[in-house]
Amino acid sequence: MGDAGDQRPTGATVGDEHEQQPGHVDDVTVSPGPAPDDHERPIRQRGRTVHGEPANAGHRVLAPDDAEVEAYLEVALDAPAPERPEPDIPGGAVHGGDEPAVETGTVPDTVVVLDFGSQYAQLIARRVRELHVYSELLPFDTPWADVAKRRPRAVILSGGPASVYEEAAPRPDPGLWTSGVPVLGICYGLHLMALELGGEVVPAVRREYGPAAITVTEEDGLFAGLGREQPVWMSHGDSIVSLPPGFRATAQTPSTPFAGIADPARRLYGIQFHPEVVHTPHGRDILRNFVTGIAGARPTWTPASFIESTVNEIRSRVDAHARATGGDGRVICALSGGVDSAVAATLVHRAVGDRLTCIYVDHGLMRKKESELLHATFEQNLGMRLVMVDARERFLARLAGVIDPEQKRRIIGDEFIRVFEEEAAKLGRIDFLTQGTLYPDVIESTASETKAAQKIKTHHNVGGLPADLRFTLIEPLRYLFKDEVRVVGLELGLPEAMVFRQPFPGPGLAIRIIGEVTAERLDTLRDADWIVIDEVKAAGLYRSLWQSFAILTPVRSVGVMGDGRTYANVVAIRAVTSEDGMTADWAKLPYEVLARISSRIVNEVPGVNRVVYDVSSKPPATIEWE
Ligand code: XMP
Repeated sequence: MGDAGDQRPTGATVGDEHEQQPGHVDDVTVSPGPAPDDHERPIRQRGRTVHGEPANAGHRVLAPDDAEVEAYLEVALDAPAPERPEPDIPGGAVHGGDEPAVETGTVPDTVVVLDFGSQYAQLIARRVRELHVYSELLPFDTPWADVAKRRPRAVILSGGPASVYEEAAPRPDPGLWTSGVPVLGICYGLHLMALELGGEVVPAVRREYGPAAITVTEEDGLFAGLGREQPVWMSHGDSIVSLPPGFRATAQTPSTPFAGIADPARRLYGIQFHPEVVHTPHGRDILRNFVTGIAGARPTWTPASFIESTVNEIRSRVDAHARATGGDGRVICALSGGVDSAVAATLVHRAVGDRLTCIYVDHGLMRKKESELLHATFEQNLGMRLVMVDARERFLARLAGVIDPEQKRRIIGDEFIRVFEEEAAKLGRIDFLTQGTLYPDVIESTASETKAAQKIKTHHNVGGLPADLRFTLIEPLRYLFKDEVRVVGLELGLPEAMVFRQPFPGPGLAIRIIGEVTAERLDTLRDADWIVIDEVKAAGLYRSLWQSFAILTPVRSVGVMGDGRTYANVVAIRAVTSEDGMTADWAKLPYEVLARISSRIVNEVPGVNRVVYDVSSKPPATIEWE
């Protein structure tokens, strides 16, 4: 293995200082991850869990939150696979007429990250974006012509699990080396640079994994402004033994004289360690030195600039379509209550105003006050055209007597599609459908449609709307990572409760009521769930938890209240920490928080006399109980 760095540091979430609330992280103890011995640990592949199973194994939908509702829609509307502009760059994606903005200078400066299989590859792109420079992740073998279309100011080569001297080792298009574009090679990327340009790379005598210290021997360029000794995160099994012509060493460790190399004349730089992980404290400075210093990229990628260019792009695209077809350029969007659809709808609304109609199907399976918040935010505050469909009775009627979780899911998806079709049909001609597809879905989608949609299509044999009704997708978030969506949401003025909402499954509370879903049991669960969220938020833990919620079990237990014996419902509490929902640890919530949740639930929620805490991690347990 050339780059053992594709394993995560023990017990740490890479990038966690970004996702987690400062000051809150310590309140929840994250159980230690697997041992750091990367030899034994499976490399995580795209679309697979760390255990090697398909990431969406079984019935679970890969991306939580809005994915499921969007998938219902794709089925309902028989929406075509997204047609993405070429090249797909923010501000440059004007279809149907106008000159691409890449010609007009509104495209942000771009740094391309070539992905050689590192688990950290996405993180590199995110780190660059944190410097307010747009960064895009492309497969390592992207033809140079396609990379060049993006007019990159710089290219970063990620780490990767292979060894550069192996026959099948992944290599970039050689056009990279003669392009004149500044290149930074990280770990495997460094070794590639060394080997491909005439140096020599061999297996290391001693693998290095974990914290290390480098001594900077050339304090300009990449290491400008940093001290001579730098703590870094190392992770490699190969070493450079001789440099290519034109290169010199810029940093060393006791075990390698080539921890940093550079050919400043050609603006080629390489580092053995990982600047993108939080365990390299000055990693961000090193990336900044490269991106905005050496490569001269302008830091213009900000929420405000994104909003402006996206709104302009959507407007000109919809207008161009209307001109070309003689239509009105009308757009629909389904709001699910999740942050993605909320932000997507708000952007589109800024662009086209009343030509957008949002549809919210209230299936009655949401948490307390969520539908009300959505209504107040979109209709009253933002002045959007919002169709709130009260379908609560329809869903309840179809769920009556159903206890099988998969059947619940099928019924909910199917009913959603029916309701949506009925509402969409009432609106007349619609040209565009807005979806909240995120950047990770774009880069991970191998198939032309979302994984969730494929899954749901297997469940539902629905005809969709008439075949001649075709929608074009508007995906305003396709360039954004989730945390960027949140920042944009805040900038757009969406309420924090919506922007920072924990993931919530499409079938809602129906899969948190074990057994039959009834109006009464929904009320019980909603009240208990409200208390969980209330106390978790009061303890400042909400954002550091992946999910926290209540489950209404089918168990009744004996209790005593006052002088009387009770025989009432048992509520379970689930709180987990996770990075992506694929694996999760049960959260070590402070006892005081658990105590308050428990006593409030038994005192305030009628029909509950016992509360238990779920101490199972995933795997083997899933996050949801059904
Ligand atoms: P599990 O329970 O499989 O959940 O560990 C992983 C993530 O997926 C969410 N989840 C769902 N989301 N429809 C959804 O939209 C579903 O049927 C569904 N089941 C689970 C779950 O909340 C967690 O975030």
